Amino acid sequence: MNNTIIVTGGAGFIGANFVLAWVKQGLGTVVNLDKLTYAGNLENLVEIQHNPHHVFVHGDIGDRTLLDKLLSEHRPCAVVNFAAESHVDRSIHGPEDFIQTNVVGTFHLLEAVRAYWGGLSHENRQNFRFLHVSTDEVYGSLGKTDAAFTESHTYAPNSPYSASKAASDHLVRAYHHTYGLPTLTTNCSNNYGPHHFPEKLIPLVIHNALAGLPLPIYGTGQQIRDWLYVEDHCAAIRRVLEAGKVGDVYNVGGWNEKPNIEVVKTLCRMLDIKKPRADGKSYVDQITFVEDRLGHDQRYAIDATKIASQLGWKPKETFESGIEKTVNWYLEHQEWVANVTSGDYRHWVAKHYAERGEELA
Ligand code: NAD
Ligand code: DAU
Repeated sequence: MNNTIIVTGGAGFIGANFVLAWVKQGLGTVVNLDKLTYAGNLENLVEIQHNPHHVFVHGDIGDRTLLDKLLSEHRPCAVVNFAAESHVDRSIHGPEDFIQTNVVGTFHLLEAVRAYWGGLSHENRQNFRFLHVSTDEVYGSLGKTDAAFTESHTYAPNSPYSASKAASDHLVRAYHHTYGLPTLTTNCSNNYGPHHFPEKLIPLVIHNALAGLPLPIYGTGQQIRDWLYVEDHCAAIRRVLEAGKVGDVYNVGGWNEKPNIEVVKTLCRMLDIKKPRADGKSYVDQITFVEDRLGHDQRYAIDATKIASQLGWKPKETFESGIEKTVNWYLEHQEWVANVTSGDYRHWVAKHYAERGEELA
């Protein structure tokens, strides 16, 4: 065993940010296993494509033969599991892929890792970690005045996506409890930042604003999310990997609760300054209220006290600094946006919003 880690889903939004930071900081070699679904994009990793400390493997976390081969060849000291179907709206349209990857895939990954871990020396077994990256959505929805989610909050997932993530969290918990696998689980709030696929609220709004398209707000726009800059999430995962207590769960959040409408108006005002519309009007004029998401959770909020007090992690970015970095990144990477918004993505978005009475593509 050496300081190599296996990362799954490292061509997606958070996984790519994590892999880039890990390799650029010289923390060791990353074997990056990704199926390259519509959300996986090798262009995210272009900066490290020739770096010998990044080994990309195209494959599925549900492929046990491939997993066994990678584990025995690379002898990792940790596996970090980002791979998932991650978009709530897609899970409402078609839940099956979510069950397949998030539940069955995680099960196969756990089985392969358990077999590998069981064959390690006593010392290497002690040092090995399996870190599962999960979401605050497993806790369900909060009322306006409810206390934020702590690690002991009851699980009450409401969408096929969050139910599939909850199932995977339970499997991870069971593999620690039953087999002693040294697991760690992080449950994080909404991320934003570079390489975010423009089907999610923040990158979708930036892209649509610049393209002169409607900015679709589900329902009244009063739903609340707790936003965290993606690099802060990656730093939290590194810290949990380094110092987290085996078997424990850590909630990760930005202490940044915002109603959706406020997030969208902030983006519009920032774009009004950085990239004014040719007609001199505000991007706010492009806001359109559309039919609500089925079963839409009203509010998420993370109580990140445990990770702060026990591991000393705190977010570096405020919402204001993080959102400015994000808008700048999208303005400077219009080619990346153009590349992702072609093909599969465009077809799906067109279909989804056509059902809501909007022409978006
Ligand atoms: P994403 O959809 O951008 O990326 C997912 C990646 O996983 C893609 O590269 C995809 O190709 C890959 N993948 C999908 N199925 C796979 C399979 N069967 N085998 C191998 N690779 C596969 O997702 P993201 O936003 O980067 O989220 C990463 C993880 O973090 C997910 O587990 C998600 O539940 C969790 N999470 C996300 C957020 C958020 O705000 N985005 C917040 C908290 C937790
Ligand atoms: O909370 C963590 C979760 O955050 C992650 O587990 C998920 O993987 C990630 O996708 C994200 O889920 P959300 O459903 O909160 O993110 P999304 O960007 O899809 O939506 C954010 C809010 O904005 C939500 O209340 C729905 C709303 N929305 C979204 C879109 C795409 C709109 O009003 N209009 C839209 O067009």
